[in-house]
Amino acid sequence: MTMQTENAKPMLGNEKAEPTNIVIFGATGDLTKRKLLPALIRMLDCGMVHKDSRILGVVNNRTREVWLQLLFDALKAFSHEITLDMDRWNALCEKLIMVPGDLADDETYVRLAESLQVLGGKKNAMFYCAIPPQWYSKVAAGLGKANLVSEDEGYRRIVIEKPFGMNLETSRKLNNALQTEFHENQIYRIDHYLGKESVQNLLVYRFANGVMEPLWNRNYIDHVQIIVSETLGIEYRAKYYEKAGALRDMIQSHIMQVMTLVAMEPPVEFTADAVRDEKMKVLRAVRPFKPEDIDKLTVAAQYAKGTIDGEECPSYVAEEGVSPDSVTETFAAVRFQIDNWRWQGVPFILCSGKRLPKRVSEVMIRFRKPPFNLFNKHTSIPKANALVFRLQPDGGIVLRINAKKTGPTTDSEVMVMRAPYANNNEVANAYEVLMHDVLLGDGTLFSRSDEVNESWAIIEPILKAWSERVSIERYRAGTWDIAAMERLTQGCVHGWHTPT
Ligand code: BG6
Repeated sequence: MTMQTENAKPMLGNEKAEPTNIVIFGATGDLTKRKLLPALIRMLDCGMVHKDSRILGVVNNRTREVWLQLLFDALKAFSHEITLDMDRWNALCEKLIMVPGDLADDETYVRLAESLQVLGGKKNAMFYCAIPPQWYSKVAAGLGKANLVSEDEGYRRIVIEKPFGMNLETSRKLNNALQTEFHENQIYRIDHYLGKESVQNLLVYRFANGVMEPLWNRNYIDHVQIIVSETLGIEYRAKYYEKAGALRDMIQSHIMQVMTLVAMEPPVEFTADAVRDEKMKVLRAVRPFKPEDIDKLTVAAQYAKGTIDGEECPSYVAEEGVSPDSVTETFAAVRFQIDNWRWQGVPFILCSGKRLPKRVSEVMIRFRKPPFNLFNKHTSIPKANALVFRLQPDGGIVLRINAKKTGPTTDSEVMVMRAPYANNNEVANAYEVLMHDVLLGDGTLFSRSDEVNESWAIIEPILKAWSERVSIERYRAGTWDIAAMERLTQGCVHGWHTPT
């Protein structure tokens, strides 16, 4: 059964962003070429970026011509949906300003200060750090020294991408360095999962529908599983991934953020701090991991060679840049307990892996079994209901409910009610949503420093235990064959949910 949303409309920013100097550090990098520039072009098209805004790229050792050519080639290669005729490209070039310089050189920031223009009466600036994280503190300090942080002439906002540190200590250091220059409400830590329509929709499903709240607790819910499954391997990122692994790369960041949205109490208002206060309370209620419980409550595994969609995939250790005896996990799963009134006794199982059979992300709420099986004489035992929020690739909501088989029987079968909520073409991508929010000064979908520190603190004992690992379970690429998941989901009705 398929349902349609009423009045589905293309997403357009309905609040107006002010004209802004959009400054990109790392303006020749992959993130700029693949994500930021295409997003900015689409945002200019639909008015999410004010037409008088300018895009300033901080670029080292290249002429403006070379920089523009590099951007042009990248748009052609990666953004097929953008039609780039010469008129359009020339109009864009008028907005693209190059600020030459090295990030390590204080003069670069002085030059940048000189390049900021008064637009629409103000000197607003958004500083996007599309650079490796080890540069974030340096850039913040450079901006501070050049007096580019104070908001006397217009707003000043800095945007950074994960990883926000590699553990609690480095996360604290980074937060301190940023907060030495910027006020916390000028700092936007992007978690692109929070920019996904389907993830934001979790809040709307929960708090705009009366039917959810009465069921949303330990009385009705057996457990929750949140899975992000990818078919991709580590691509060209061995250097980062070898140090990070799936726990840092996905669970500490994106998936714990999603967990807080599923588990939080209704905020008093829909403002950045009210929402983040509630998310923070969830993190504070997570039961700390004791060293002796870690084997029981976590799973780490690594892909061996296998086949996905008919294509052979090498094992992780055979990937370029990976050490042949690496024990870095490419699959991680953690069983969390949230010690509060709503969730006491309800496990939250978070997992993510590379080279799994499907690219799919889901939140599955598994309800308790009915208290009594009236149909116990029948061959099919009804399954416990599940409500699945499909985050990607095809966002929507699925209710798995038992229905009578047709014909002269009361045997039941699972009926799947699907409600896709939007046509993918109508949905702005995460970078558009999040950059628009930065331009509006809305931090609701960005991680606050206390959330980031707290999530590191939660997984710190796991990181410590895993750092002593000398071997790791292997799974064949393209399969769900991770035996330890049975142990991790013990006692959870119907066990590990692998999405179809
Ligand atoms: C990134 C991780 O943050 O998210 C990648 O570093 C991962 O390893 C990616 O592939 C997944 O994002 P998405 O939006 O494709 O699910």
